[in-house]
Amino acid sequence: MTDRKTIIRSVGAYLPAQVMTNDDLSKIVDTTDEWIQQRTGIKQRHIAAEGENTSDLAAAAARKAMENAGITIADIDLIIVATTTPDMTFPATAAVVQQKLGMHHGAAFDIQAVCSGFVYAVATADSYLKNGLGKRALVIGAETASRLLDWTDRTTCVLFGDGAGAAVMELAKPGEERGVLATALRSDGFHWNKLYVDGGVSSTRTIGHVRMEGKEVFKHAVGMITDVVYKVLDDTGHTIEDLDWFVPHQANKRIIDGAGVKLGLPPEKVVVTVDKHANTSAASVPLALNTAVADGRIKRGDLVMIEAMGGGFTWGASLIRW
Ligand code: UT7
Repeated sequence: MTDRKTIIRSVGAYLPAQVMTNDDLSKIVDTTDEWIQQRTGIKQRHIAAEGENTSDLAAAAARKAMENAGITIADIDLIIVATTTPDMTFPATAAVVQQKLGMHHGAAFDIQAVCSGFVYAVATADSYLKNGLGKRALVIGAETASRLLDWTDRTTCVLFGDGAGAAVMELAKPGEERGVLATALRSDGFHWNKLYVDGGVSSTRTIGHVRMEGKEVFKHAVGMITDVVYKVLDDTGHTIEDLDWFVPHQANKRIIDGAGVKLGLPPEKVVVTVDKHANTSAASVPLALNTAVADGRIKRGDLVMIEAMGGGFTWGASLIRW
């Protein structure tokens, strides 16, 4: 194992063309733009077109990330797709992405940690590269969450959207003091029935729909988020004041605000995109990263904390010197 760190060299993102506003939703279920914005901060979400699958979204985001790094698929030897909405039960969506990107070499697999999937995937790629198993990885969070929704259940269907974000990860150059500084991953399966899909290959042999005890998720979210954020800060000797950017999972503006207040973070250091694409599960952190890199907020050398929490429950955070 090398002492060199793993950097995020570039990011990229893709959102499907179709936008569904809160007003559009109010024609389907008994809800209002005012309720959704007040309780969640969400204004709109993107919905994948018929025939547009998770692998299409993932491949589009990956192409952008490679373009932003100035590399081609020949430079990649690992693809990890974090997703809860695979194209098929098997093979892994990462394998389909590999084909779509024209890659015969290397390795490809999926990670299923629901909304925390991207943080889990960053940790996995970090270990993989440091252990010499590859040179460069495409780490993707991609979801067609709209396909798991019960469009008659107003308590869940207003919350989610489709999208994908990707990062190119590689070892830092010798002596380069940037990259992933520390990661904390957690799960507690005793909470699985608070946020789950009521279908599956082995149990019901159906796809199922998202079911959630929203208040229960909310109750646990802020504590779990702050727990892993403090863990990686402690592990690296950093403090909250050192952070330049906090890039949280984009589930709900109230959870993001709650975590920000508990951590004592000024709102201007918190990247918020949930208003534009709702909760895109594993895609939400890389979508937010892409926004803040593209608009010039996150710059080389900045200290960036990513975090996520979701079904399982799973949760995790990673501190990155950009
Ligand atoms: O990655 C993690 C993913 N999950 C989450 O982040 C979800 C976390 N939880 C939440 O964000 C919130 O719990 C929700 C946004 C889901 C709900 O907000 P809440 O403040 O906890 O509302 P509630 O469940 O207590 O419902 C309040 C009222 C209820 O009506 P009554 O019983 O007071 O008459 C609901 O039936 O709001 C009603 N309601 C709605 N009204 C209009 C629930 N959904 C809607 C809706 N439109 N879409």
